[in-house]
Amino acid sequence: MSIPQEFINELNERADLVELVGGQVKLERRGSNFVGLCPFHTEKTPSFTVSPEKGFYHCFGCGANGNALGFIQQHYAADFLTAVEKLAMMQGMEVPQQAGSSENNTKRQQITSLLAKAMQYFEQQLRLHEGAKEYLKSRTLTGKTASLYKVGYAPKEWDGLKKALSDKEALLADAGLVRIKDKDSYDYFRDRIIFPIIDTNERVCGFGGRAMDDENPPKYLNSSENDYFSKRRLLFGLPQAMKAAQQKKRLIICEGYMDVLMLAQAGFSEAVATMGTAATAEQMKKAIRFAPNIYFAYDGDVAGQKGAFRAMQGVLPALKDGISVHFLFLPQGHDPDSYLRANGSDAFEQLLTNAQSLGDYLAETLWQQADATSSEGRATSVLKEGEQLLRLIDNSDAPAWRSVLEKRIEQRAGGVSMEQIKKAQSAKLKRAPRVQPKTVFRMQPQSLLYNLLCCLTAKPSLAETLPLTLPLPGAMQDVEVVNIVLSRLRWHMPDEDNEEESKLDVIATVEENGYPQLAQQLRDSVTGRHSRALDIEAELKVVVTELEQLHHKLSGKSKSDNLKKIQQMLAE
Ligand code: UTP
Ligand code: MN
Repeated sequence: MSIPQEFINELNERADLVELVGGQVKLERRGSNFVGLCPFHTEKTPSFTVSPEKGFYHCFGCGANGNALGFIQQHYAADFLTAVEKLAMMQGMEVPQQAGSSENNTKRQQITSLLAKAMQYFEQQLRLHEGAKEYLKSRTLTGKTASLYKVGYAPKEWDGLKKALSDKEALLADAGLVRIKDKDSYDYFRDRIIFPIIDTNERVCGFGGRAMDDENPPKYLNSSENDYFSKRRLLFGLPQAMKAAQQKKRLIICEGYMDVLMLAQAGFSEAVATMGTAATAEQMKKAIRFAPNIYFAYDGDVAGQKGAFRAMQGVLPALKDGISVHFLFLPQGHDPDSYLRANGSDAFEQLLTNAQSLGDYLAETLWQQADATSSEGRATSVLKEGEQLLRLIDNSDAPAWRSVLEKRIEQRAGGVSMEQIKKAQSAKLKRAPRVQPKTVFRMQPQSLLYNLLCCLTAKPSLAETLPLTLPLPGAMQDVEVVNIVLSRLRWHMPDEDNEEESKLDVIATVEENGYPQLAQQLRDSVTGRHSRALDIEAELKVVVTELEQLHHKLSGKSKSDNLKKIQQMLAE
């Protein structure tokens, strides 16, 4: 969605910048301006200046500057749209829903109507194809559930949909319904059960298609990601779940289409799915609008546990005081669909009742994952990892949650205070020369660590090939970002077949951790690398070797420095 420029101008003009900034920084009048200590870098004398006349702020220390929207973006590490929403809300203004230029608008409308027509076509085809109906029956899906979720079938033809819609090929291709190849085009979904993905405005955004036998991989094929369809933003089943979620005050989030359908059929209409990707902050922000209790229902296997950890990382930035989050794990080998069939809905309700709370889950998982053999000790590593994770929480929305989680982690670490860890880290930060505010932070494009990040962004699955003890010599802030990305990749286990999505995920990780500029820098660098997928592996090898060499050189140097010092001392 784009927002009319006039509205953005009005937002900035109406905002009282002095009041807005003054809520975060103590300001003093200096002539026609106001000054204070910069919230974006550490300083002792105020160089942060606000000009109420110009509606602009500028820090002479670190160069941060902008208008009201810019301040919100920087201060909350928010993307532009979120900042617009936040500022509008503060001023009691409504963000106009109208989409950008009229040209885009009509195209969007055309595609939306095309997708709706396609959905009808697939539904109609399901009624005509016995084999597809048999398949759904074999999965114990009733006709009622199927029609509630508008389940359909794409026949085994090359141009069934194309002919039925007889629309412009280019538009069909833009809608992700046909593929164009060598001047020819053909239906994208063939011989698949179709699950339409619908948003809360009842717009059809895309489809998931399941093969009917395992001889026809891939098992699931989704509409390709484009401007209109992004799995990271949508939750499958949300329009159907809204009412029940509001009534029951809970939303169950699971992984797959069939899980949602079978849950609904068993009486849990408040279920939605993330469609194979880890839960994102964007999805979670949406989810908590519908219910104050969120339940993640994941498989009990390793993949399920990784999914849960990523979901937890997605939920932290969306967390608000007053919201509860729970995790439940199904027994090994089960997903909600198979569990319900085997054990019934009472057993599932019992799982919900016994689900682990966010605090318990977080503390236990950190403890399980902490390296018990590390030299710094298990407790310290739990506190350090915990401190990193808690940074994801938006303090202005969830101050109580933050302190609850902090206490819970400290308790698990045997009563050691996280404050000590934070102090040690901020002392380290203070010692470090010129730390840039995260929001404007970019990396030296020539640096080894930046090159490492580029390789990992361009081909995230390469993270697996990195040596376990890769040294990271470099500036502290650079190292911090690299560590954030590495720890994300360690949990996420990028899928080689879905490199494009993993790539977006790495960039989103950087962005969500408060580094919007760096995320943009990576985006820019990595688009140029697109076609050189093969070289990236070689490039990464070189970077790794160079990192190791640099590390040896530096540790060798400090050793010989020490030696010199000792010799000097002896000589004195
Ligand atoms: P699974 O692969 O775990 O589904 O994917 P499953 O339970 O074995 O499949 P069914 O129940 O036999 O049909 C779980 C969900 O992840 C998404 C789909 O939403 C799927 O329902 N997914 C999975 C994809 O989108 N693409 C994939 O390639 C795989
Ligand atoms: Mn399943």
